[in-house]
Amino acid sequence: MELFLDTANLDEIRQAVRIGVISGVTTNPSLAAKEGIGQLRVYQQQVQEIAQMVSGPISAEVISTDYEGMVLEAREIASWAPNVVAKIPSTMTGFEAIATLSREGIKINQTLCFSVNQAILGARAGSAFVSPFVGRLDDEGHDGMQVVADIVEIFKRYNITTKVLVASIRHPLHCVAAAKAGAHIATVPFKVLTQMAHHPLTDVGVARFAEDWKNAARV
Ligand code: E4P
Repeated sequence: MELFLDTANLDEIRQAVRIGVISGVTTNPSLAAKEGIGQLRVYQQQVQEIAQMVSGPISAEVISTDYEGMVLEAREIASWAPNVVAKIPSTMTGFEAIATLSREGIKINQTLCFSVNQAILGARAGSAFVSPFVGRLDDEGHDGMQVVADIVEIFKRYNITTKVLVASIRHPLHCVAAAKAGAHIATVPFKVLTQMAHHPLTDVGVARFAEDWKNAARV
């Protein structure tokens, strides 16, 4: 399973790139707003900077909700850099826009996916990625990871090439479950990435090895 970073924060992306574990980045309007970005031109600059730091897919989301607006915005977003992917929501209008854009060769990350049926529709419309939102499903008392497992199973059975990109990840166990379900990608907030790296026994072990080595050097 590949790991993407779910952020629009340049420092977090820089650190994750140094660690060498991420192969893409996902952003959305809320993550952009968190960085003080509220204008398309500023969002563009930020995404272009990210696209230079990470060579894999960088997702940027359309704001429009009507067909014409989504198509125009997605074309514009896709022109920002060769590795930028446009995010389109899982709505009837969104599927129509995805169908148009995928026919033009524009890569789409179908976002705000909460059901297997939405994933099937998006895949048939031509989405390159589908993003089931596990955390938001869990928040509503649904089993988000079961939705992921079902999508993976059905895509495999019908040889659907759309990649399953698990989004709305809240904690490290979500990553383990996504990998076990056979998801292609998990996009993780920076905090979850650090939680994935940490284990108290590793810290204890490192300290003990250093201490034993120091004591042996004294004799
Ligand atoms: C990424 O593509 C999604 O937009 C993001 O994971 C949503 O996360 P949230 O549910 O924590 O806002």
